[in-house]
Amino acid sequence: MQELLSNLVEKYKEYSINGKVADYIPGLSLADPSTLGIAVCCKDGECYSSGAGKELFTIQSISKVITLMLAIRDNGEDYVFSKIGMEPTGDAFNSIQKLETCKTHKPFNPLINAGAIAVSSLIKGESSERKFKRILDFIRKISENPDLSYDEEIYLGEKRTGNRNRSMAYFMKNEGIIEGDVEEALDVYFKQCSIKVSALDLAKIGLFLVNDGIIKSGEKVVSTHTAKIVKSLMITCGMYDGSGEFAVRVGIPSKSGVGGGILSVAPGKMGIGIYGPALDEKGNSIAGIALLEALSKEMLLSIF
Ligand code: DON
Repeated sequence: MQELLSNLVEKYKEYSINGKVADYIPGLSLADPSTLGIAVCCKDGECYSSGAGKELFTIQSISKVITLMLAIRDNGEDYVFSKIGMEPTGDAFNSIQKLETCKTHKPFNPLINAGAIAVSSLIKGESSERKFKRILDFIRKISENPDLSYDEEIYLGEKRTGNRNRSMAYFMKNEGIIEGDVEEALDVYFKQCSIKVSALDLAKIGLFLVNDGIIKSGEKVVSTHTAKIVKSLMITCGMYDGSGEFAVRVGIPSKSGVGGGILSVAPGKMGIGIYGPALDEKGNSIAGIALLEALSKEMLLSIF
């Protein structure tokens, strides 16, 4: 496995030339576009990493998977999905258009920005600090990494510039989708996106989902049904408007982030984490997808 991962990183590193590091959030543009790393945690618990597999980057949209699990645990599936849909949009992750044009004004799914901000508003806690602390504790637990923290500069940069997200949040408040304080929900969202992880942390979270919500100690942290909801949404909506092509080419439930990360779950087999900050035009790691496609073919990981 170790040799396979090293060969794949070496081979697919050059694919990053065709991508571009995100620069719409201050701080993200500092990443080296030629970076590529992978980590894999197998069903037996054994983990492997190669290239930049242990380098830290901000989790960004991959945090949407984490908060969805916590929101379901806090409120129940029915309540969460009374506010947010389960359908792919075919639009960009930060698109506003369907929010207004669809009849219900419900965000289409929890993995686009609008849906994720609504999810963040559902996390229980007396203040945004307390809500965020609960998210941090949750991700530390499922990644088996008590040292995870967030990047203050990236958080503040997004908070300062995230007006598109702010506009969607206020629209959802107007429609009764967000019930609590809008700025609090946004603060939680911006902070959760700035949690620093490595590909190895993501691979461990992937393994947690492979194991249907059970961590190493045997504790069942989320229900099998919740894990199933998350994996289903990852395959249909996890790579945004690139989800269809990704399903054909790779076929593994995955979630990307503009920090360059991808969290993948090969059911019954392994959790996979990727870090490659050069992105394609849809905001997904360009070399990361190429690497995952090769790994999927080599190890027959497609679920289809
Ligand atoms: O809201 C945003 O724009 C970012 N914090 C997260 C976006 C993101 O990662 C989209 N992913 N591909």
